[in-house]
Amino acid sequence: LVTDVRLRRVLDSRGNPTVEADVRTESGGFGRAKAPSGASTGEYEAIELPVGEAIAGARERAIPRLVGEVYAGNQRDIDNALRAADSTDDFSHIGANSAVAISMAGAKAAADVLGAPLFQHLGGTFRGDTFPTPLGNVVGGGEHAADATHIQEFLAAPVGAPSVEEAIFANAAVHSAVRDQLDEQGLSCGKGDEGAWAPSVDDGSAFDIVSAAIETVEDDVGFEIRLGLDVAAAELYDADKEVYRYGEQTRDTGEQIDYITELIEEYNLIYVEDPLDEDDFEGYVTLTERVGQGTHICGDDLFVTNVERLERGTEMGAANSILIKPNQIGTLSETVDAVELARRNGYEPVISHRSGETEDTTIAHLAVATDAPFIKTGVVGGERTAKLNELIRIEHNA
Ligand code: PGA
Ligand code: ZN
Repeated sequence: LVTDVRLRRVLDSRGNPTVEADVRTESGGFGRAKAPSGASTGEYEAIELPVGEAIAGARERAIPRLVGEVYAGNQRDIDNALRAADSTDDFSHIGANSAVAISMAGAKAAADVLGAPLFQHLGGTFRGDTFPTPLGNVVGGGEHAADATHIQEFLAAPVGAPSVEEAIFANAAVHSAVRDQLDEQGLSCGKGDEGAWAPSVDDGSAFDIVSAAIETVEDDVGFEIRLGLDVAAAELYDADKEVYRYGEQTRDTGEQIDYITELIEEYNLIYVEDPLDEDDFEGYVTLTERVGQGTHICGDDLFVTNVERLERGTEMGAANSILIKPNQIGTLSETVDAVELARRNGYEPVISHRSGETEDTTIAHLAVATDAPFIKTGVVGGERTAKLNELIRIEHNA
């Protein structure tokens, strides 16, 4: 039985306040979790409230429905209590930030009671030997860095790595090789919110730099590393003019679909996230049919980890993969519902961090528990390496 839930304001990786939750149980279980925070958020995500409001809302409405009322081992009961306490579809009373922190802290408390790693409690007991391939953000711009690329993220995908440990170090090597390329070209620069290099170059140059870096590292490690993107196209889309804006250059929807198709062919992309606006299900259908199943066309802002939006997408054949971010929907139960719905429809789940992160490692366990093919959680920076190092520990049964 949950006996105590405490909430406090702590820092995230951008230096913004976020919610930390502690959950304690009668049998001595303890779990602590923190909410991440997006910058290029989808329009249909659950609401992140200002932290003071989120904490006050949860203290007033949610904690009385949890303490002395639910068992931490029954994740659905915790999450149903959070839903009932809030009563809105988008968590506008307690905030998805309070909700997700409590939901994840509850799961950790339950795992603690069991004396088991979190991934096992989340359903990973019968997982095979496979591990998620880390998608490593090595160059980026968009909403994550000023005066950098239009495409938000250039991602290294070490698909040929024999272990998660090798994959993680390969991404770090690509990140480092990108810096060497930038230095050589006199383009030394700072990093964006997720730790990717943020050079002031056009997108074409970024493709050249990242491709060259990947080739160097491939030669070194001897396994295949592919390239992926998060276009975050909703941020580029001008709904009034119905065009995607890349600085001065614009593309209408047909041209955007052609452009993405060309990029996939030219750079042998294995993964393209949010290539189109979050309202353009039809465009996704056209693109997905055109590129086939060889490339993961992944909906982030399109689906926002929401089963209703995913259902609409799977019925139409929009995208073939879904980005999974627990704070987009607010509870772990609904997060896992989205993963399972995706799987039933042949869509691959990709577990993801946010641009604003914390040392929390829940998503590493979620990726292992759900046997996701990919996890997107950056390459460098303590809030990113927290998850990557946790994956290495899980692989080593540490
Ligand atoms: P966000 O970016 O966390 O700022 O939304 C990450 C993403 O778009 O995948
Ligand atoms: Zn995204």
